[in-house]
Amino acid sequence: EKRMKHAMQEAHTFVSRLYHYVLTKTPYGAEAMKYLAKRGMSEATIAEYQIGFAPDSWDFVTQQLTKRGFSQELMVEAGLLARSDAGKIFDRFRGRIMFPIQDSQGNVIGFGGRLLQGSKPNSNQKSQPKYLNSPESLLFNKSATLFNLHRARPIIRKRKEALLFEGYVDVISAGQAGFMQGIATLGTALTEQQARILRRNTESVVLCYDGDAAGQEATSKAIHVLQQAGLIVRVAPLPQGVDPDDYIRQHGAEAFSQQVLLQAMPITAFRLKHLRSQFVIKDETDKARLIAKAVEIINELSSPVERDMYQRQLAEEYSLTLGDLKWESKRAYNQQ
Ligand code: UTP
Ligand code: MN
Ligand code: MN
Ligand code: MN
Ligand code: MN
Repeated sequence: EKRMKHAMQEAHTFVSRLYHYVLTKTPYGAEAMKYLAKRGMSEATIAEYQIGFAPDSWDFVTQQLTKRGFSQELMVEAGLLARSDAGKIFDRFRGRIMFPIQDSQGNVIGFGGRLLQGSKPNSNQKSQPKYLNSPESLLFNKSATLFNLHRARPIIRKRKEALLFEGYVDVISAGQAGFMQGIATLGTALTEQQARILRRNTESVVLCYDGDAAGQEATSKAIHVLQQAGLIVRVAPLPQGVDPDDYIRQHGAEAFSQQVLLQAMPITAFRLKHLRSQFVIKDETDKARLIAKAVEIINELSSPVERDMYQRQLAEEYSLTLGDLKWESKRAYNQQ
């Protein structure tokens, strides 16, 4: 098993260099280079993150690995190659921009591969996911890995804060703009194990997920997992329909720092905002229901000082007397 893992590791290091070479030094990478440049990715960034391109070929990597004596069987298990129902071996990643995923020592253990074209697959790419990730293997444990952790860790420790993004591109884009404490999960929900890894490196996490419904939902779930691990969590607000990479490209690093990161909300504020966005208030009954829910959220705070601050805000927002709101709050508390 140890020997197998070692061979898988060597293959990943080799293939990651190969993809990077194809992207930066061959005509097969020209279109992908143009696409990345159009997205504002500099050559220095492409080198720093070892971004690559998997050519649109069924056997390019298969041949390269075979020539170097790697067992095809093992390479299928490692997720670099795939096997058809008929038993034919072929390249798993084809025509994709490749983002190497590294372990905490910086060894490549997997890939995220993005379709070259936009997020809407065109006709001959039908049913192809935008991102294809390496499968779990002896080498690659997704629930215990965070993208970019080996680069970000010293900065996370120094700043005592991590920035958690949804996408590889968000991490890279933020890094290019000077925010080096970014990490991301690997196309899956944040796990307890990942939260514990973060807790070993920092006390506080800023969640910076996409400004869409999926991002909000994922934020709510991640808050819970991070808090269970004992982390202080804040949520950075992004405009509707915009992700961190979009924002940085549209508004620049300074605005990202001032308008997004510095505006990060404590989770009670985030939950109250999320609550308001879900309620359509047509009459007094709706309003009362909303207030009751808000009171529940505020009651979860253990600090009386914080509770008082949010109660005052809520009272002001809905033109209630603080006395009435406190009474309502006590009633809700006693009903639990
Ligand atoms: P997004 O769809 O938000 O991608 O998915 P993105 O990072 O903004 O990428 P661009 O800007 O379109 O290039 C965020 C993350 O979700 C996972 C990937 O890990 C991705 O980085 N994902 C997304 C998948 O695993 N598969 C998919 O088909 C899509
Ligand atoms: Mn998204
Ligand atoms: Mn929700
Ligand atoms: Mn996104
Ligand atoms: Mn994006």
